[in-house]
Amino acid sequence: MWHCSFSSLSLCCLLLLSTIIPTHCYLISPSLLDLINSTCKECSDKSADINYDFCVTSLQPIPVTHVTNLQGVGIVAMELALANATNTISTIEHMLSSKEFDPFAIDCLKDCLELYADAIAMLVDAFTAFLSEHFDIATVLMRTVMDAASTCGEGFTEKKGELILLAKENYNLFQLSDISSCIIKQVSFVPSQPPNVSS
Ligand SMILES: *[C@@H]1O[C@H](CO)[C@@H](O)[C@H](O)[C@H]1NC(C)=O
Ligand SMILES: *[C@@H]1O[C@H](CO)[C@@H](O)[C@H](O)[C@H]1NC(C)=O
Repeated sequence: MWHCSFSSLSLCCLLLLSTIIPTHCYLISPSLLDLINSTCKECSDKSADINYDFCVTSLQPIPVTHVTNLQGVGIVAMELALANATNTISTIEHMLSSKEFDPFAIDCLKDCLELYADAIAMLVDAFTAFLSEHFDIATVLMRTVMDAASTCGEGFTEKKGELILLAKENYNLFQLSDISSCIIKQVSFVPSQPPNVSS
């Protein structure tokens, strides 16, 4: 005989919740990993410059609560690029004040400082363009950021035997911008959500 009192119902609900919640929480991470993996796979297939392992290891530490979709992954990629470029500005300033480098290297470092300052401004504009769904503008800006990273690196190669500085920094910014640009393109192909019609 069933006694469906209030207390047994709430006990039932609690049991139900306790089975649903952990399963649900557990499922978020693998699906985000799937999204990151498939995004990195698609981007490394499309661009010869994008390294799959770099992409996955850069994007994987994303806090799960921040991101549930491709737009979110794009935002994180752009934030990473911005954090990297900002960090590199400090690295260059530190190098310039160290008096360790010859005049040629110092000229290159000064050029790089300007290129990185411009790159940061472009990253901020690209971010704004992405959020307001001006995907073409965002893509063009990210290309320009990639050019800035390459140009900085090329400066050092113009003199034979010169030590190539900032190689890792330029590589990181180039990769992160290329990945961002690829994600922006992927997002732009997905139609945006229909507006909420319930109100
Ligand atoms: C994602 O890729 C990483 C590294 O390639 C791998 O270790 C992981 O198992 C993959 N995760 C999923 C959910 O496919
Ligand atoms: C720059 O990017 C690399 C590669 O994703 C990452 O390991 C590093 O932590 C980033 N640095 C900053 C300051 O964000």
